[in-house]
Amino acid sequence: MLKLLLLFSIFIPHDVISLKILIANPILGFSHVKFNAQVADVLADIGHDVTMLNIYHIPLPNLDKLVKNSNVKFIEYRPTHFSGMKNEEHTLPDFWDSIYMNNKIVACLSLPMVVKEKWEPTYSELLKDKKFFQSLKDQDFDAVITETFELGGFYIAHLINARSVIAIMSSVRYPYTEQLFGQPPTLGYIPGDFSRMGKEATVWDRLNDIYNDFFFTQLHQAYSNMQNKLFDRLIGYKLPYWKDLVNNSTVFITNSNPYLDFAAPKTANIIPVGGFNVQKSPKQSLPNEYQDILGENTVIISFGSVVRSYEMPENFKSGFVEMFKKFPNVTFIWKYERDDLEFRKRIGPNVYFKKWMPQSALLADKRVKLFITHGGLASTMEVAYSGKPALVVPLFSDQFHNAMMLSRHGGSIAYNKFDLSKSEKLISAVRELLENSKFAENSKLLAQVLHNQPTDPKQTLINHIEFAAKFPSLKSLVPENNSNGFIAFYYIDAYFCIIAVICLFLFLIRITFKKLYCFIKLKKE
Ligand SMILES: *[C@@H]1O[C@H](CO)[C@@H](O)[C@H](O)[C@H]1NC(C)=O
Ligand SMILES: *[C@@H]1O[C@H](CO)[C@@H](O)[C@H](O)[C@H]1NC(C)=O
Ligand SMILES: *[C@@H]1O[C@H](CO)[C@@H](O)[C@H](O)[C@H]1NC(C)=O
Repeated sequence: MLKLLLLFSIFIPHDVISLKILIANPILGFSHVKFNAQVADVLADIGHDVTMLNIYHIPLPNLDKLVKNSNVKFIEYRPTHFSGMKNEEHTLPDFWDSIYMNNKIVACLSLPMVVKEKWEPTYSELLKDKKFFQSLKDQDFDAVITETFELGGFYIAHLINARSVIAIMSSVRYPYTEQLFGQPPTLGYIPGDFSRMGKEATVWDRLNDIYNDFFFTQLHQAYSNMQNKLFDRLIGYKLPYWKDLVNNSTVFITNSNPYLDFAAPKTANIIPVGGFNVQKSPKQSLPNEYQDILGENTVIISFGSVVRSYEMPENFKSGFVEMFKKFPNVTFIWKYERDDLEFRKRIGPNVYFKKWMPQSALLADKRVKLFITHGGLASTMEVAYSGKPALVVPLFSDQFHNAMMLSRHGGSIAYNKFDLSKSEKLISAVRELLENSKFAENSKLLAQVLHNQPTDPKQTLINHIEFAAKFPSLKSLVPENNSNGFIAFYYIDAYFCIIAVICLFLFLIRITFKKLYCFIKLKKE
């Protein structure tokens, strides 16, 4: 009975005043939408009054059951042009190997243009919709929660004079946004794509770090400025600069987990909540069809939902075909979205294609020994908590960071996608992961660390959202140094003074000695 009572008490809202919260949820990328849904559930589960504002930029499938709590309310904003849009698959094959997406310098120009196409038609209607803004104002929300990846939510919060705005991000880090909150630069703490770190790093790695950091910042700056300008133009007057809207949030909540992520200094207003959405034990049980498929050694392969396996370039596919041949005793299950009979013919009976995979149930099964993944954050978290080794092949954006932060714990390998075509290299990586017990052991240790972390990410999320709603735009957590320019930030002027004084001092000593020397010399003579 007591147990039952205790169990029940978990579902009773704790003694906080229920907050009226709006979550701005642009329908653009599935992982972002899923993250927002999970935040909504966590807040609604403890009794807050949560409304999701779904702004449809593109049609995305499988959205209906993302929010589990039936108390969550919805405002569906479908612009007029939306009804004409086909519910077609939005895949981005360019992320595989096209230069437009894979060259950092080119991406600074191409990526903002790609997203602008989606934003412009939606916001040109939404921003002029007076009724929409009035009805939002009438609801008098205590807080607007919005991601820093799409700035629409910040501008909506501004236009309805929201009492507080809370910045969140579904990816691990957003160095550029973090710096708006006073986070020091992360050079040397967070590596650029495939850079080595610490004592192993050479000057080339450090140059690579600067290259990655600089162009990532440029990219972020370019598309935030672009959205800022777009909104100014659509509404017909000058809105606040986006940085001032974003850093007016008391906290910046990120999906990083300090026990998984790179060790880096941070300010107290940057709140890592990574893992708040991970199921401690998988809810799904393994469907029967898999019981027959799974062999003693099984490897599962998935590249997520944005980029499709069937659109993988031919030379990458060939690498997989050769690798499958080398492991006839291993069962491979590949999330492959088409029947593709031609490709199927080239592959042995040890490989199964599935259009969908019960990923967490598979990872929980003893027979699954390895996960080949693109390193989306949800999959990275899932595999880290499951204690299984992974071969992480990042395809775009934060996946490079995720791949390296996971492999840093010694249970996984971060693998360059352009090396997928080199079958020998792929074979030796898969062999290492399957046969070298060090990987399995390190993966298990990481899972134990995560299951025993001393703070609960979900509680951290709740506490900081309630705190930020209570104390909007609290500036005392931002270091004063943050508002300094480059010279003051790095104390360049002060060091310059010290060096000048030392030089002057040395100069005076030199003159004195010279004088003394002349004087002695003169006396002797
Ligand atoms: C917020 O960002 C703006 C623009 O960079 C800056 O001028 C301002 O000082 C920042 N505010 C704080 C509290 O850091
Ligand atoms: C920042 O927040 C304060 C208080 O909540 C508000 O008065 C101010 O207008 C906000 N600044 C911007 C740029 O939104
Ligand atoms: C596969 O299994 C068979 C039988 O257990 C064994 O004889 C063979 O050497 C294995 N092949 C490889 C490549 O491990």
